[in-house]
Amino acid sequence: MNPFDALNRSHAWGPGSFDMAEPLIQAAGIRPGMRVLEVGGGSGRIAVTLAKHWQVDVVTLEPWTNGIEIQTLAEAEGVGNRVLPLRIKAQALPMPDNSFDAVISIGSFEMIGDERPQALQELIRVARPGASIGIAEPMCQPVMPDDLVALDEEHKLKFRECFRTLDWNRELFATHGLPPVQSYHFAEAYQWWLAYGKQMEGRISAGEQEFIRRDQGRWISLGLVVGRKAD
Ligand SMILES: C[S@@+](CC[C@H](N)C(=O)[O-])C[C@H]1O[C@@H](n2cnc3c(N)ncnc32)[C@H](O)[C@@H]1O
Repeated sequence: MNPFDALNRSHAWGPGSFDMAEPLIQAAGIRPGMRVLEVGGGSGRIAVTLAKHWQVDVVTLEPWTNGIEIQTLAEAEGVGNRVLPLRIKAQALPMPDNSFDAVISIGSFEMIGDERPQALQELIRVARPGASIGIAEPMCQPVMPDDLVALDEEHKLKFRECFRTLDWNRELFATHGLPPVQSYHFAEAYQWWLAYGKQMEGRISAGEQEFIRRDQGRWISLGLVVGRKAD
């Protein structure tokens, strides 16, 4: 059973977030008793579901909010003592080296933009030797078609600025001493993008909606990359 299937998709803050969660958790080898760092807590549903169903402790980085919504949800779901939201960015973590048994990020690492190398270095530093570090998020094909470039610029979507290819992310992991142990595009990626567009009607811009519709699976995708820190 996948406990993320039971979640209301309108609580996801990105395309495919709740669909990518279980595959990423499996790929990262998360087991009961672990301490997990999550980058990008959002509504807190991923951290709370992870803590509740995998019996792990989760520290979740949520720099966009004060974390109260996450804390309240965790308490309501009986895992208030297992989920800790922190208003902290991944680029500069106050935790000591080797603090976490696994690190995951869903639909969030791409938001760090040009500071991704710095953030990855920090995530590796706070991960224990042998820990998995994994991302699942919007990724793209190498060349954005011209009509989509025009839309991205006209609506200031910054998709071209944020999204990278699977190979780019694999290379980033590898050059930081984290050879990918799993990496792939989700076959359902464009369906999940379309579903996200529908769920977010009125909550994301008309420009973003138009981009998703016009893409037709040509450029936007969703991908997963997991690497393991050396023992
Ligand atoms: C699109 S939301 C995804 C949230 C959630 N993971 C989900 O999929 O529903 C992006 C998340 O990235 C987080 N974020 C943005 N910049 C960050 C940074 N520098 N370090 C850590 N988290 C960051 C935001 O706080 C936000 O929660």
